[in-house]
Amino acid sequence: MTRTVWGLTDPARFYEIMDEALTLVVPGSYLGDNLFTWGRNNSLFDDEAFRKAWESNVQNDADRAIAWRRYILACSAYHCAQLPGDFVECGVYRGTGIKTIVDYFGKEGFTKTFWGYDTFDYNPVESHAFVGQQTGMFEEIQKRFEGYDQVRLVRGLLPDSLIGNSPEKISFLHIDLNSAKFEIAVLEALFERVVPGGMIVLDDYEWGGIYREQKIAEDAWFAQYNYRVFPLPTGQGMVLKR
Ligand SMILES: C[S@@+](CC[C@H](N)C(=O)[O-])C[C@H]1O[C@@H](n2cnc3c(N)ncnc32)[C@H](O)[C@@H]1O
Repeated sequence: MTRTVWGLTDPARFYEIMDEALTLVVPGSYLGDNLFTWGRNNSLFDDEAFRKAWESNVQNDADRAIAWRRYILACSAYHCAQLPGDFVECGVYRGTGIKTIVDYFGKEGFTKTFWGYDTFDYNPVESHAFVGQQTGMFEEIQKRFEGYDQVRLVRGLLPDSLIGNSPEKISFLHIDLNSAKFEIAVLEALFERVVPGGMIVLDDYEWGGIYREQKIAEDAWFAQYNYRVFPLPTGQGMVLKR
């Protein structure tokens, strides 16, 4: 685990204090991704299949820090794999989320079709471009998934890229677009297709600051259908479809 966190005003002082704080707590701590816990089981690190899948896909400090978020996805995926319907991720970037999930089951053990939607070569969300989002990125990510025949990467702007190129039944829906407008558009298009018992994970729902707009829009959207999002300490939001 790295101790990468975000939103610090004085990183040196923060890590100095946390180093000391870690000596004052019982074992079972997790520090990263703006989480600091102690006295926990840290189940993610006991699950050998997950640990392997996560570690083998880590490409940078952020990937390392968000292990707990990834484990929420892995456990949700395990639940959803028992249901009818495909897996969908809206917002793929380098594909680390999808690949961690598939590797958690094992390439042969993962029997669902996993659809991944992104513009890849550019980021349509203003001021949100990630490292490497330039011409050629799509081909690079396609290469990363060579041999993963269950994974279908779809390049294009959501929600239009769903038209004629998306599953009728969905059991697992991960939405990670960093944009209230696009996330609501995707919910409009896909929510009805999520099967009863299926799960929706909203990556940014419980993050504040520039992400808060997403929670506000999503709370109002789900309230129309009498749903309430479970806010997770990882910063994610979770919805169980009835
Ligand atoms: C935070 S990244 C996704 C990270 C990924 N889910 C993971 O687990 O590693 C957000 C991605 O959403 C994509 N994106 C945002 N809005 C989009 C839209 N309207 N259509 C397609 N892709 C979009 C961006 O290009 C970016 O790659």
